[in-house]
Amino acid sequence: MTAFTNIRLNGVSFAFGTHTVLNHIDLDIQPGSIVALLGPSGCGKSTLLRLLAGLSTPAEGEIWFGDRLVAKAGWALPPEARDIGMVFQDYALWPHMSVAQNVAFPLRMRNVPRKAREERVMAALNRVGLAEFAERKPAGLSGGQQQRVALARAIIAEPAILLFDEPLSNLDSALRESLCHEMAHLLRQLGTTAVYVTHDRREAHWLADRIVHLASGTVESVHTVTPSAGEIA
Ligand SMILES: Nc1ncnc2c1ncn2[C@@H]1O[C@H](COP(=O)(O)OP(=O)(O)OP(=O)(O)O)[C@@H](O)[C@H]1O
Ligand SMILES: [Mg+2]
Repeated sequence: MTAFTNIRLNGVSFAFGTHTVLNHIDLDIQPGSIVALLGPSGCGKSTLLRLLAGLSTPAEGEIWFGDRLVAKAGWALPPEARDIGMVFQDYALWPHMSVAQNVAFPLRMRNVPRKAREERVMAALNRVGLAEFAERKPAGLSGGQQQRVALARAIIAEPAILLFDEPLSNLDSALRESLCHEMAHLLRQLGTTAVYVTHDRREAHWLADRIVHLASGTVESVHTVTPSAGEIA
């Protein structure tokens, strides 16, 4: 397991052309904590996540993972060099690959030998309750099952940081709640630092230690969640 990593954003700004989407964001995310980014549509949640992933480059500011600078104005370390896992709303599975091949992909990229790869794939599929579906193609799975595959793929290389962009919003309400609790349990077992984008307050409360409210490209407030008391200021 990778050592727990904190995430720090110092004065991070981002614009699409003349449209400023993120305006001097400062954020400190503790190692091993789960932070939900909450806010209305268009407030910049996905943009912030893409900056954390290395899919976009900040116009201003710095992003640090532990003592490693991963982005600064005009420069970004690419995603594959960041030790991250990602889960998106649309699952983003490769349709021509089996469940096992999808999950194995990050290990292939790291040249993990086949035997070790197969063992780790089965361990990851067991963790998400999908061992019996290893040879199936994604099209033969339900939405919830597909998202479990995406989750297994995100965790298999034991990344220091996991990034989620509305992973449950394509699922019905009951499934969303049960899978959200499962993911919270899994993330706490793994101890991975996680940033979870959602516009669903309930998901944020089920899952996160802290909730960061974004509004119009700035951090409006940060709340701590305690399991018994709910969200407190
Ligand atoms: N590729 C793009 N080109 C231009 N503007 C963009 C692009 N992507 C996003 N935007 C704009 O940037 C702003 C922030 O978008 P972003 O996707 O980060 O919002 P969001 O908070 O994730 O919203 P949602 O909850 O709807 O997913 C929006 O005003 C959006 O229209
Ligand atoms: Mg979004």
